[in-house]
Amino acid sequence: MSPETAATAAYIVAALLTVMSLAGLSKHETARAGVAYGIAGMAVALVATVALAARSLTAGGIALLAAAMVVGGGVGLWRARVVEMTGMPELIALLHSFVGLAAVLVGWNGYLEVEAVGGAQTTVPPELLGIHSVEVGVGVFIGAVTFTGSIVAYGKLSGRMKSRPLTLPGKNALNLAALVAFVALTAGFTIAPSLGLMIGITAVALALGWHLVASIGGGDMPVVVSMLNSYSGWAAAASGFLLDNTLLIVTGALVGSSGAYLSYVMCQAMNRSFLSVIAGGFGVESGTSASGAEEGEHREVDADEVAEMLAEASSVVIVPGYGMAVAQAQYPVADLTRRLADRGIEVRFGIHPVAGRLPGHMNVLLAEAKVPYDIVLEMDEINDDLATTSVVLVIGANDTVNPAAMDDPGSPIAGMPVLRVWEAKNVVVFKRSMAVGYAGVQNPLFFRENTSMIFGDAKARVEDILKAL
Ligand code: TAP
Repeated sequence: MSPETAATAAYIVAALLTVMSLAGLSKHETARAGVAYGIAGMAVALVATVALAARSLTAGGIALLAAAMVVGGGVGLWRARVVEMTGMPELIALLHSFVGLAAVLVGWNGYLEVEAVGGAQTTVPPELLGIHSVEVGVGVFIGAVTFTGSIVAYGKLSGRMKSRPLTLPGKNALNLAALVAFVALTAGFTIAPSLGLMIGITAVALALGWHLVASIGGGDMPVVVSMLNSYSGWAAAASGFLLDNTLLIVTGALVGSSGAYLSYVMCQAMNRSFLSVIAGGFGVESGTSASGAEEGEHREVDADEVAEMLAEASSVVIVPGYGMAVAQAQYPVADLTRRLADRGIEVRFGIHPVAGRLPGHMNVLLAEAKVPYDIVLEMDEINDDLATTSVVLVIGANDTVNPAAMDDPGSPIAGMPVLRVWEAKNVVVFKRSMAVGYAGVQNPLFFRENTSMIFGDAKARVEDILKAL
């Protein structure tokens, strides 16, 4: 068997493993196996690609390749080991940016190897030079949009940039103008490739990626992350065309289409228009009431008062959010659940689809603390029961319990489905201050008559309540 045939066979195996990985990741019972298939697929692909490339490399080239693999693998391993659960989305966004940057570099390499030397001494036949130029333009464009879009997503998710949407005047016209400019520049580049046009395509795409994600509000970031995941897949597929690598085309298209489908499903769950989110918030007016200003008087309680309230309750619903993850309060929360259940109080959890910073974030934390699955309910399963609940404990959740999403059409989170916790007899909100949530919007829940605030780190406060009970 020739080395090329062996590599093609390895690529088919790697592509099948990618399909099995995606299928495994779709259910939590099979997720571990899905991850194992993904690792195996990547290992097969890496060995086949390196072995094939090494045949035409000098000793110096092989040393460079090995050094790149050791450094890249080492940094990846280190980051994955030290990352906190709450830091996962920003790490994912950063990894997407690498895929985008790689696609830009592959595109530029394609240009420098072929168009820059007028097609001389290359493997691209003259009649295919036009197609090659289109591949270069499209690959660089998708890669650059993914690169800067992911950098902005990283900034917003890690708190290095404001999560409030950027609203430049005529933002939709700007996006449209960038698209038109890309088509015109790529057409020009296909007819007569030049360094100037190549720089133009790259610059327009970098600016567009930046603007698209910067224009999207914090509440829509979950959709943006899955959308960038999709873009990174298409960027890899575009590189596959340039490198004539079928594995990159197949796996890139798989990641691209599954990410697009996930974005669509998330948009439906969040009551958002898919097209609007891809177009950087197209058709969404900037919020008129996105102020972080306080809106009234709030009532503060201490752990003893909450313990008293709980002791008299017949039913309790716990709504966790990002703050529970930050405080690592899931263990005392699980203890509290057991203590209340032992007293004959019905305790259940209400989980919003985008609570925390990852899909399923709260479910993972509660499973870690051994909270039984059958009392952990989805938002739609619990919302109608909240009106007959004695006490709702909101532990580090904010945007996902904000009534402004339903009552205030001018709010940046207007239309997003939320847990209607304010319908319960009593609501207790655990947080450290009156600060706004991730979307940067003040929460009128805190000023309702049946709401009490208990300030401080959620873990410490739940432990205080356990002592007082
Ligand atoms: P957030 O709106 O993020 O609010 C979390 C609250 O926790 C804050 O108000 C904060 O208030 C409090 N907090 C932080 N540390 C705390 C601690 N140690 N102890 C007690 N409280 C603490 O929470 P959420 O309701 O879970 O909403 C999630 C938001 O993230 C949504 O806007 C969602 O769109 C966005 N998002 C979600 C995802 C996914 S896929 N889940 C991905 C990206 C973005 P203090 O500072 O006053 O304590």
